[in-house]
Amino acid sequence: MCGIVGYCGLKQASNILLEGLKRLEYRGYDSAGIGVGNDGKITIIKKKGKIKDLREIVPPDLRGFWGIGHTRWATHGEVNDINAHPHTDQTGKIAIVHNGIIENYMTLKEKLSSEGYNFITETDSEVIAHLIASYYDGELEKAVKKTVALLKGTYGIVCVHADEPGKLVGARNGSPLVLGIGEDEMFLASDVPAILAHTKQVVYIEDGEIVTVTPNSFNTTDHLERNILKTVDNVEWELEEIEKGGYTHFMEKEIHEQPESIMRAMRGRLDIELATGHLGGLNLSSKELLNIERVKIIAAGTSYHAGMVGSYLLESVARIPCTAELSSEVRYRNPIVEPKSLYFAVSQSGETADTLYAMRELQRKGATVLGICNVVGSTIARESDGGVYIHSGPEIAVASTKAFTSQLTVFYLFTLLMARMRHMSYGQGTEFARSLSKVPEQVKKVLDKKEEIKELAKKYSKAKDFLFLGRGINYPVALEGALKLKEISYVHAEGYSAAEIKHGPIALINEYTPSVFLVSDDSLRDKIISNLKEVKARKGKVIAVAVEGDEEVAEIVDDIITVPHTNELMYPFLMVVPLQLFAYYCALELGRNVDQPRNLAKSVTVE
Ligand code: M6R
Repeated sequence: MCGIVGYCGLKQASNILLEGLKRLEYRGYDSAGIGVGNDGKITIIKKKGKIKDLREIVPPDLRGFWGIGHTRWATHGEVNDINAHPHTDQTGKIAIVHNGIIENYMTLKEKLSSEGYNFITETDSEVIAHLIASYYDGELEKAVKKTVALLKGTYGIVCVHADEPGKLVGARNGSPLVLGIGEDEMFLASDVPAILAHTKQVVYIEDGEIVTVTPNSFNTTDHLERNILKTVDNVEWELEEIEKGGYTHFMEKEIHEQPESIMRAMRGRLDIELATGHLGGLNLSSKELLNIERVKIIAAGTSYHAGMVGSYLLESVARIPCTAELSSEVRYRNPIVEPKSLYFAVSQSGETADTLYAMRELQRKGATVLGICNVVGSTIARESDGGVYIHSGPEIAVASTKAFTSQLTVFYLFTLLMARMRHMSYGQGTEFARSLSKVPEQVKKVLDKKEEIKELAKKYSKAKDFLFLGRGINYPVALEGALKLKEISYVHAEGYSAAEIKHGPIALINEYTPSVFLVSDDSLRDKIISNLKEVKARKGKVIAVAVEGDEEVAEIVDDIITVPHTNELMYPFLMVVPLQLFAYYCALELGRNVDQPRNLAKSVTVE
C-alpha cells in the first residue's frame, strides 16, 4: 500500500526521491520521508502529510547522490512524523523503507529489545533496521539476507548504509519491487511511475530475491545465495500517461479516456468479419477452450463488479456456468477445484493481496488461473497461467474507472469467443461484435452529458444516503455506482438489485434518500419501472439513467440522464459512465480530495 523509491547515481538524490514519491502519492499518502546518504551519514527527513509538506522541510542544500524515500499508508502505529519512514537503527547509519506487513514483528521486537535495541516508533517496519544492524559486519547485503530470513509477512524493502556510499539493497516478498536502469544511475521502486521520467528499462524483482544496486551494476540473488540471471524489460507506458494532461484530476482524465481505452482493449482482438474474439494470451488451444465446463472469476472491489458482469455474460450468452466471487472469501473457504473449470483473477494493479493469495491457493489445488490485469509485469500477471492485459494505460486515481470498462471489454471478447465455439451462430456473433465495436463512440456521447450530470450533483450532493438500483446485467453496475460515490465523496450509498429493495432497503426510502435507477430497454424494463414506482409512492426522489427517448420513465422520475440505445448486453458500458461522473462531481461539490480519498490506497497489497 505504501510507495517506495531508491536512487543511486550522479544526480542529487533528494530531488529524484521527492519527484518519485510525488508520482507514487496515489498509493498511500498519510506521511512521507526521505533518507539521503552523504559524507558518512544518512540524513533523514520525514513528515506527516503530503509530499508537498515534506518538500517544504527538505533543505534546498541537502546534498547526496544516493538515498531512499517512502510514502506511507499506515498499518501499524498512528499517522505521525515519527512513524513515517525511513526508519533507522540506533547508530543512524542504517536506514530502511518498507512496504508490506511484518507479521512476526512483536516477537522480533521483544527479542531485540531484550538485547538492548531501543525502539522509537510503533511500526512493524522498525524491526528491520535493528535486525540489519544486529547482523551488520561491513556488508549490507549479507546483513539484509540474514534479516529477511527471519521475517514473516510481506515486504518490499530498500536499505542503505552510510558507510557504503552509492549502494542500495532491496528485497521482496509479496510487495512489488522494480529496478530501473538508467545511464550511470539506478532506481528501485514499488511502482514503475516513480521512475518512468528517468528510464523505461526495468527488471522485475521476484519474491525471495535480494538485489544489490550501484550506479553501474546490479546483482540479484535468491535466499540460497545463488545468482539469478534477470531479463531487462521495456516499459510501454509513456510519461504523458501518468500526467494530468490539462484535466484537474486524474479521475476526470481517466473517465474521459474511456472511449480510447475501451478501443485499445479490443484492438486486434475483436474480429467482426469472423464474428469472434482473439485472445492470444490465454495460452489455451481451441480444444482446451471447448472442454471448459465452468468459469470462476475472483476479484475485489471494482474488478469484482466487472467480474460479475463477466459471469452474467458467460452464463447467459456463452451458456457456460459461471460465478464471480470476492477473492478475499475464496482463499479461506477451502474451495473445490473441478478439473474442467477455468479461473480468472481480475485485478487492475495485479498486486491486490486478496486476489493474489486466492489465486495462489487455487493454483496449489491444481486450478488453471488466467489473469486479467492492467499493470504489465505485475505479480498476478506474472504468476497466473496466462491471461489478457486490458491495456488501459496507467490508472492513477484511487477510484477505478477506465480499468472497469476495459475489464468489461475483455469479458465481452472472451464471451464472444466461447459462445461462437459453442452454440452462437455467425449472425448472432456479428450482431454482438458490431454492437461491441460501437461502444467507444457511444461512450463519447454519454461523456457529452457531463454538464447535465454536474447539475444533478449540485442538486443532490447534500443527501446523506443514496440507493443505486439495477437489474440483470446492470445490477453490478449499480454496485459500482454506489462504490464510486462512497469512495470519493464519503456519502453513504448502497447498491442493490432493484427487485431486492422490497425485501428490506425500501424501509430507507423517504424524501431525503435519493435512488438512482438504471433502466435499460431490455426484458426487465417493465419490472424495474414497477420497482421505481414503489419508490416514488413512498416520496423517494428518483434519478434515472435510462435510454434516449424513454418518455415513460422521463415522466415518472425526478431527473433523468439518457444514454444511446444499444444491444441490451452493452448497457453496462454506457450506464456506468454517468455514475462515475456523478460521483466525481458530487465529490467536487463536497470539497473532497478526488484522486486521493481518505483512508484508501490505489493498490491494496495487504490482506
Ligand atoms: O487492483 P485491483 O483491481 O485488484 O483492485 C481491487 C480494488 O482494491 C479496487 O477496485 C478498489 O475497490 C478501487 N478503489 C475501486 O475504485
